[in-house]
Formats: sequence, C-alpha cells, structure tokens
Amino acid sequence: MSIVNATPDTIKNAAACLKTGGLVAFPTETVYGLGADAHNSEALKRIFTAKNRPQDHPLIVHLASFAQFEQWAQDIPSSAAVLAQHFFPAPLALILKKHPRVNTTVTGGQETIALRVPNHPVALGLLEAFGGGIAAPSANRFCRISPTQALHVQQELGERVDMILDGGACHIGVESTILDLSTGLPMLLRYGHITQSELESVLGLNVLIPDALRKSTVKTAGMMRIHYAPTTPAMLCEHDAIPHFMQANPQMRIGVLCCGEALDSPQHGSVISLPANPVIYAQHLYAKLRELDALKLDVILVQTPPQTEDWRAINDRLAKATHNFREH
Ligand code: TXA
Ligand code: MG
Repeated sequence: MSIVNATPDTIKNAAACLKTGGLVAFPTETVYGLGADAHNSEALKRIFTAKNRPQDHPLIVHLASFAQFEQWAQDIPSSAAVLAQHFFPAPLALILKKHPRVNTTVTGGQETIALRVPNHPVALGLLEAFGGGIAAPSANRFCRISPTQALHVQQELGERVDMILDGGACHIGVESTILDLSTGLPMLLRYGHITQSELESVLGLNVLIPDALRKSTVKTAGMMRIHYAPTTPAMLCEHDAIPHFMQANPQMRIGVLCCGEALDSPQHGSVISLPANPVIYAQHLYAKLRELDALKLDVILVQTPPQTEDWRAINDRLAKATHNFREH
C-alpha cells in the first residue's frame, strides 16, 4: 500500500477509512501502529489476520485524552489519574478493568484493557479526527521487529493495510511501558522508555516486576520469548568477544551492532555503530537491526549494552531478538 505524508487532509481521510472498517498504519512516539476502530469487531479481526497474530493477544486502545478512559474502563484507581496528570500524552499504557460495553475482541477475551494516549501529533490528530478509540498493535508481522518508519510498515504489511500515514521516524523507538493497575498492586508488564523508578517516584508506591518479565516469558505478547526478532540469527556479545568471534569465523558473513565506538569491520559483513546513549540507541535500534537483517548475513552480533536501568527496555528487546540463537 502506498505511503502518504501525514497532513490535515490525509489525516481526515485516514479517520474516514477507520470509520468504514479500514486499517490505517500511523506513527506514534514509540513505533508505528496498525490501527482499527476499537469498537468494530470485523476491523479488529483484520488486524489479527494482517499480523498473523493469535486472536487471544489483546490490543492497546489509543485515546486522545485521559478523560476518555472512563468510556473504556471501570473502577479506575486514583493512581491512573496521578500518572496521567504527570506523564500523558506518553509512552505508557495502563491496564485497567474493562468497561462492560467494551467488546472482548479488542481485549483478546480478557476482562482488562490496555489504554494509552500517544505523544505524537499525527497519532493525536488522527484520534481527534476519528473521535473514538483506535486499537493499534505495532504494525509488524507477529514476532518480528516493530516498525519505526513508514517504509518498514510497507515492507512488513504491504497490501494488508489500507493506508500508511507517514510522520517520519518515531522518536522513542521502543514500545510503550505497560503498567497493570487492575489488581491494586501496580505491576510492570513491559519495560519501556518510562522506567520503574520514574513510575515509583510519581506514584509514591512500589511497582512490582513479575518473575515472568524478569525472565521474559509469557503473559503479554511483549513478554513472549521469541519476539522482536530479525530473520538472521542474532547473538549478544561482549565488546571484547566480538574480534575473537570474527577471527575464529573468518568465512562467516557477520553483521555487528556496536554500542559506542565502532569496532573494525569483519572480513565479510558490516559494522554499524550506535552511540552509548540509551535514548539515541533506542531511537535507532530497530531500524539498524532491519538494515543488518536485510544484508542476509550469517549472523548478527549485538554488542551487549550497559546493564543500568535506563538501558533496561533495550536489553529486554535485545534479549528477545537474540533468544533463538542462544537456545539452539
Ligand atoms: O508502544 C506501543 O504500545 C505500540 C504503539 C503502536 O502504541 N503498540 C504496541 O502494541 O506495542 P502491541 O500489540 O504490539 O503490544 C501490546 C502489548 C501486548 O504485549 C499485549 O499482550 C499487551 O500489550 N496487552 C494489551 N492488553 C492487555 C491486557 N489487557 N493485559 C495484559 N497485557 C495486555
Ligand atoms: Mg508488537
């Protein structure tokens, strides 16, 4: 599907497309989303088909403001309002008890719902023009790297999407932080740009990290072990081990993603370097993984980034992108 520049006119067309059950890919601050009318079950089913995503994986509903949350959720705790006041619009999705009139297609059959107000002018413009909730998973095939540019969406989904709104590259680059507020004990379900410490300091409460997230196993798709993966086998590698790997495998076509200073190129392959700054690194991570993946090399070595909290979302995504290779 062709990509159109996001302008007031094309955003209006996109909203009309959503109203008739169409699928519109649009930029958010985190990654591009594949949007559909969150009240239209047929349109929602098209999302699952387009992504090859199982229907029991719940979608995030995007809203223009926190004021709309009460149409989608019930028993909203005061902690949600505190977070909204402090952060919104923001790369933060809140899990709440769903409103009885919300269709369970969007929640994957669950009694809870994920809601967020994206911090991107095109996403907010589309939400305003549409006037309702837009369900939008990342606009990639299931278990693949999320798109951070309109072109990535086209490569991932092609004709499966009715319209792709181009709003440039996403400035956060990794998916939103997901916080579960549905149980009374705030629980982090997905690491993102907004960290556990930031949430705790705004809430004045402890935020739990389930073992499942620590170990990156199942509950949400974001916690699935094989997720965000390039098609080339990818492997995390400490800085000093990279030259050894190259020397030991002179015939291998090797891609390297450095963190900080670039290492020397392998005999065959390519080296890409990202700055050792977690904000800039996250912005470019998925695009660089895609670039290396497109070279159809034998392996991608990802230099292990620092392990501090500001790198946690990145390390989480990298652990998943390299999981296959570590297992086998
Ligand atoms: O940054 C983002 O959140 C992007 C942009 C497009 O907004 N969207 C995104 O959506 O990452 P998706 O579908 O790729 O990931 C949504 C995650 C999934 O892991 C899903 O399982 C989880 O949110 N989720 C949604 N509703 C949930 C619920 N009721 N309970 C637990 N997890 C839920
Ligand atoms: Mg996703």
